[in-house]
Amino acid sequence: MPPLRSPKVLIREVSVVFKGRGSGLLALDRVSLEIEAGEFLCLVGPSGCGKSTLLRVCAGLIPQTSGEVTIQADRPGAPLTAMVFQEHALLPWRTVLDNVVFGPENRGVPEADRYARGREMLALVGLTPFAGAYPHQLSGGMKQRVGIARALANDPEVLLMDEPLAALDAQTRTIMQEELLRIWAELGKTVIYVTHSIDEALLLGDRIALLTARPGRLKQVFPVALGRPRGLEVRASPEFGALVDKIWAELREEVLRTMREEEGTRR
Ligand SMILES: Nc1ncnc2c1ncn2[C@@H]1O[C@H](COP(=O)(O)OP(=O)(O)OP(=O)(O)O)[C@@H](O)[C@H]1O
Ligand SMILES: [Mg+2]
Repeated sequence: MPPLRSPKVLIREVSVVFKGRGSGLLALDRVSLEIEAGEFLCLVGPSGCGKSTLLRVCAGLIPQTSGEVTIQADRPGAPLTAMVFQEHALLPWRTVLDNVVFGPENRGVPEADRYARGREMLALVGLTPFAGAYPHQLSGGMKQRVGIARALANDPEVLLMDEPLAALDAQTRTIMQEELLRIWAELGKTVIYVTHSIDEALLLGDRIALLTARPGRLKQVFPVALGRPRGLEVRASPEFGALVDKIWAELREEVLRTMREEEGTRR
């Protein structure tokens, strides 16, 4: 019998209710997902459907109301998750390198080790010459690279990315997508990646999980059979176009539902 494989991340029947007026707000409704070790899973869905909430639950930043998230820890001492946000939220008084080593520093990693790891991650994102610069001296794209290096410096079991490229201009975003493909191939990390862009999800992901309009439920999971290594040229393939159409048809319904509900509450 083949050995039983347990997923790297097991999200089981996760619901989140935010307390507030009345019965509160149901943000996520019994979402279940399994993510394999080394998988790049993209999460898409209309605005307000609970994508960030699901990432925060995975990161342990907010508690789920019911259900469970289990992350399989393979390396003792490694943090389970690290998060990359849309806004890089760098510490302005710290140099680039000191921002990158911030997580390991807080975990008490010895100075020599954390700086070695920090420099390695800076090299990986192509920022070695800027180690001593301050955040205000960097462009948006460079700041986002620092944000990615900072998360990777923690060497987490799972990397959580919440629209990490959304604030960038289109050209910088395209470059960063290629960079992410390269970095992911090099490190083999398990990634959960939130994006509004189907194109981006198809370029990067092994599978795409689609959430419904609020309350977020898992609507469908699309395998991305586009081969690896993958580059920008994949966007020109007929398979890519067909997948865009197929996913958009499902996502469109949810976006329209969200818009109708927003109309309703405004009236
Ligand atoms: N801390 C909170 N307290 C109360 N409600 C919240 C809280 N965080 C999120 N919500 C609500 O939960 C729902 C899901 O929010 P979430 O930020 O997870 O959506 P999202 O899918 O990430 O949206 P977007 O695509 O706009 O980033 C929204 O209705 C939001 O207003
Ligand atoms: Mg969000």
